[in-house]
Amino acid sequence: MNHNSDHGNLEELRSQARQAGGADRIDAQHQRGRLTARERLELLLDKGSFRETDMFVTHRTQDFGLDERKYLSDSVVTGWGTIEGRLTYVFSQDFTVFGGSLGEVHSEKIVKIMDMAIKNGAPLIGINDSGGARIQEGVVSLGGYADIFLRNTLASGVIPQISAILGPSAGGAVYSPALTDFVFMARKSSYMFVTGPDVVRSVTHEEVDFEELGGADVHAGISGVCHYVAASEADCLYMIRVLLSYLPQNNMEDPPFVPSADDRLRTEAALDTIVPDDSSKPYDIRDVVRLVIDGGTFLEMHEAFAQNIVVGFARMGGHSIGVVANQPAVLAGVLDINASVKAARFVRFCDAFNIPLVTFVDVPGFLPGTSQEHGGIIRSGAKLLYAYCEATVPKLTVVTRKAYGGAYCVMSSKHIRGDLNLAWPTAEIAVMGPEGAVSIIFRKELAEAEDPDKRKAELVAEYRTKFAHPYVSASRGYIDDVIEPRFTRPHLINALEMLSNKRDSNPAKKHGNIPL
Ligand code: HXC
Repeated sequence: MNHNSDHGNLEELRSQARQAGGADRIDAQHQRGRLTARERLELLLDKGSFRETDMFVTHRTQDFGLDERKYLSDSVVTGWGTIEGRLTYVFSQDFTVFGGSLGEVHSEKIVKIMDMAIKNGAPLIGINDSGGARIQEGVVSLGGYADIFLRNTLASGVIPQISAILGPSAGGAVYSPALTDFVFMARKSSYMFVTGPDVVRSVTHEEVDFEELGGADVHAGISGVCHYVAASEADCLYMIRVLLSYLPQNNMEDPPFVPSADDRLRTEAALDTIVPDDSSKPYDIRDVVRLVIDGGTFLEMHEAFAQNIVVGFARMGGHSIGVVANQPAVLAGVLDINASVKAARFVRFCDAFNIPLVTFVDVPGFLPGTSQEHGGIIRSGAKLLYAYCEATVPKLTVVTRKAYGGAYCVMSSKHIRGDLNLAWPTAEIAVMGPEGAVSIIFRKELAEAEDPDKRKAELVAEYRTKFAHPYVSASRGYIDDVIEPRFTRPHLINALEMLSNKRDSNPAKKHGNIPL
């Protein structure tokens, strides 16, 4: 719709802007099961809190007949509002205007909001629904993207940045969401890829559709790009509100305290029997987490990716925490490349935003094999080690069962500045499991034994008595206390409050060099 600013009064201009690309395109958006840019903001923000900026901006392009096609606000809606009363900056790309494509003024609008978010210390939420660079504007669009990438990077670790992908996000445009802290997608409605199905077909001869190439489930389960898959757009926007309830506004603040009716001293008898007697038997670590935290506060992130480690936000005694937990129910909770990267990124986020880490350890070690070694488990395992080592937020650790080898060191051990390291009586803290250890140190004796199986069983039992418990570590102070599992919640809440004034820092440097 053309705009005639010389004669239009304010209300008329506003109404024109709200019509965006026009009724037909709005209908088409609804037909696809999608909301418009402004409808999404209505759902995301507290009712009536949205203040729009740059509603009267139009593009300046003359080529390809674009001078005849101007839309007030261009193809992105920007501004701020509140979520549960807390200031939040937002942009929402408008697919009804030039397919939400990003040109000069579109990027200027986003950049303005990003600069305000950084300066005023409040989260930035971007809703992405765009055909990418505005083709008619050429290299100016690329410059606009780069302006945004720069700010995403400068804002990283300063304010929380959250991306919702609620339509296409293709080409280099994917890198702005990828630079943010959390990517939310809606099932069957969002897709992200660097090159689309047509290019893929011509280059690799693979036949693949949008969903299989870059749909929500692919990015949540395989690539790890997506942290949260929502069932619908409304669910997606609601879950972003929930996520923000765990986060501070910026890196200079603490996360909000949300009082809970859950008894701080609650004990849980079920925890005493949750770890199976047979140490090779699985159990779901999420059951442990749920029994320990304030009831109903667990928000798992990256749920479908590297399920052998669990990460998410929760609250204990009203305090926000970041939970990292090996998952014995998947691959015995082993650390592999994806699990290491997933947890490392989460640990760094929590550290950047003053969210204490609570780590539950039941890990048999790093995953062996050529695919892991050749894929760089050394490099990736080092990322997690680095992340835990550099983290200065309160770090609480509970060893529920196995803590073997290098993985023991990595998982928030005392040696890398764990503030309180607890173990359950079922903990086994050793260089490796009894079977493996006996096979190595008694290799010769077993080869010569009359009955090797019998001898091995005896040696395993001996090793188990000697090492497969927490008391060697506790005798050295590597474990601060061995506790009955039922008392885990009161112990952790007490420790969180004991550590609430913790101050620790790393040597001054420009930045570290995490093994990427
Ligand atoms: C300008 C665009 C556009 C673009 C879509 N439109 N993409 N206009 N630049 N990049 C316009 C269309 O002309 C159309 O306008 C309207 O948006 C809706 O597009 P349709 O194609 O009708 O919609 P649909 O069938 O739903 O398909 C959506 C789409 C497709 C899959 C996104 O439009 C598409 O493939 N677009 C091009 C994607 C692309 O290659 N972008 C460049 C990527 S490279 P009308 O007027 O008819 O409503 C890139 C580099 C970034 O982005 C680099 C950053 C460093």
